[in-house]
This record gives sequence, structure tokens and C-alpha cells, in this order.
Amino acid sequence: MRASLQALTDELRRLKSTGVRTIAVSDESIAALRKVIAAGPAAAAAVAASARFTPHEPVPSATREPAASEPPARENATPAAAPTFVKPASAPAGAKLPPAPTVQLPAGDKQTRWTVLHELVVKDATCCARVRPGKKVVLGVGSLEAKIMFVGEAPGAEEEIKGEPFVGPAGQLLTRMIQAMGLKREDVYIGNIMNWRPDMPTAPGGEQIGNRPPNEDEMRYCLPYLRAQIEVVNPELLVALGSTAAQGLLGFGSFKALGDIRGKWHEFSGKPLMVTYHPSYILRNQSNRSKRMIWEDLLKVMERSGLPISEKQRGYFLG
Ligand code: URA
Repeated sequence: MRASLQALTDELRRLKSTGVRTIAVSDESIAALRKVIAAGPAAAAAVAASARFTPHEPVPSATREPAASEPPARENATPAAAPTFVKPASAPAGAKLPPAPTVQLPAGDKQTRWTVLHELVVKDATCCARVRPGKKVVLGVGSLEAKIMFVGEAPGAEEEIKGEPFVGPAGQLLTRMIQAMGLKREDVYIGNIMNWRPDMPTAPGGEQIGNRPPNEDEMRYCLPYLRAQIEVVNPELLVALGSTAAQGLLGFGSFKALGDIRGKWHEFSGKPLMVTYHPSYILRNQSNRSKRMIWEDLLKVMERSGLPISEKQRGYFLG
């Protein structure tokens, strides 16, 4: 079912890229889509539970796909079935954002500075106006002494409820990737380019279904908050997860395909930056080949940060 949904999403994206703006959909199809979407979180959780980041496990045949091209950036990318659009929170949809905030943190220890930053972000009027009632603005999480900082895209459904990045299916997989490196999630710092979940149209009174990547203006607005987290934590190196994070850090339109820049060292805020795929790629492509591509990038991160690497780890996902 998930594969069919992905195929449908890909086809809709393809049509959109050719200029198609409207399509005719029968009532039966709408009803079928609604059913799939309603089952979405459970289906995503099932996929996440089966997505191990341990070597050589059998690949579930239902989810086996060739890792041909760069994956779409977000998990749970479902087509919007609802025809009626409403504005999110109190911000007018599509309105240009104000100038990016200037973040000035007091002198002091890391914890004090991070706490001040957290207050600034969760009370930022622009961020708050863009989260729906009952949902949260999200700042990074993890060790303030971390040597490695992972940077993702934006909060999703689970993250905006908990107010913590990477707690949904992709987050569970990220945790297993970190563990494969011989670390614990609490040893690293995990942040996002964005501090709120980019809005999607919903049916009146309905929950947001699916995610979209943030646009350039949204990333521009949130970037000072990411820079401030880098300044406070002062990690040795950064890892950008996926195309959107890489665009946020390296500049919108600065590369054509993630495949051209991943696995190489770049620089952001004076820190070495490794670019790799987003964990949601593995949720869609649970082959050893896909896992190996990410793993090779993470091996480079381990080498650069002086983490011990066993022969066993070097051989993960080969063959
Ligand atoms: N994907 C991201 O990029 N960030 C999150 O916090 C969750 C999913």
C-alpha cells in the first residue's frame, strides 16, 4: 500500500513539474485515498519498526526498491486529498516572513545560553504564529558537549507534538544510525533547519496530513536559530541529513542533486560539514545498498571525529 502511495505521489509530482495544476479524481478514488491517509501514522510506524540500521538483516521484499536517485526529502509525504483549504494557526498562508531574527545570547555557560536561546525560539512570535493550536515550536536537542551535530529538515507530526526533533519514524532510524556509530542519541546534538512544521492545507478542523519541505524564505528566517545552536554547542563537525538541510546550510539552489555533494566535506559556520541522505530515504529504500551509501558517509564522520571503527563496522551493509 505504501509503495502504491509513493508511486501516486511521484506521479503527482511529475505532473506538477510539467505544469499540470488540476486533475480529475473520482469520488471513489478520494474515498480510497482518505482511507489510506487515515491509516498513515500506523503504516509509517510499522515501516519504521521494520527499518533496522544493523547490517545484513533480510530486506522485507514488500519495501525493497532500487536506490536509484535522490529520495524525496520528507517521510509521510502523502498527497493532499482534501479539496477545502484553511489557513494554519494565525499566519496568513504564503505571506512573506519578516526579516530573520538577530540572536544575541548572554555570556555564560552552555546550559545558560541554550536555555535563553530556547526561550527566544519557543516565544518567537513568527514561529508561534505558524504552529497550529496545541502544537509546539521545536528547537534542537542533545548533548551541549556533543562533537557531532546532526541537522535535519523540519519537525513533522510527532515532533510538533513533543517539541523535540526526530522522534517520529525517521527519528527512530536516526537513533539506530547513531548507535551503529557506537554512540548514544544523548551523545550527539540533533537540530533542524526549521523550528516549525511547514504548513499544508487541511480540511476544516482537520489535522495536517503529510509534510512539505520548507521554502527558501522559511529557511532564511530560521537559520539564525540554527547558527546560534552551533555557536552554543560548538561541535567539531556537522552532518546535514538530506537535500533540504544541505540547501539550508549551503545555499538554496547551490547544487543540482544531493548525489553530487553527499559523502564530501563542505563547510558551514566554520565547521566541517558532511552531507548525507535523510534517514527517511532508508524508510523508503531498505536495501543494504542504500544503507551502505549513508553508512560510508557516517564512516567518514567517525574517522574525522576520531571515533574508533572496528573491522566489523567497516564492513556493515557490504554484500
Ligand atoms: N525529519 C526531519 O528532518 N526533522 C525532524 O525533526 C523529523 C523528521
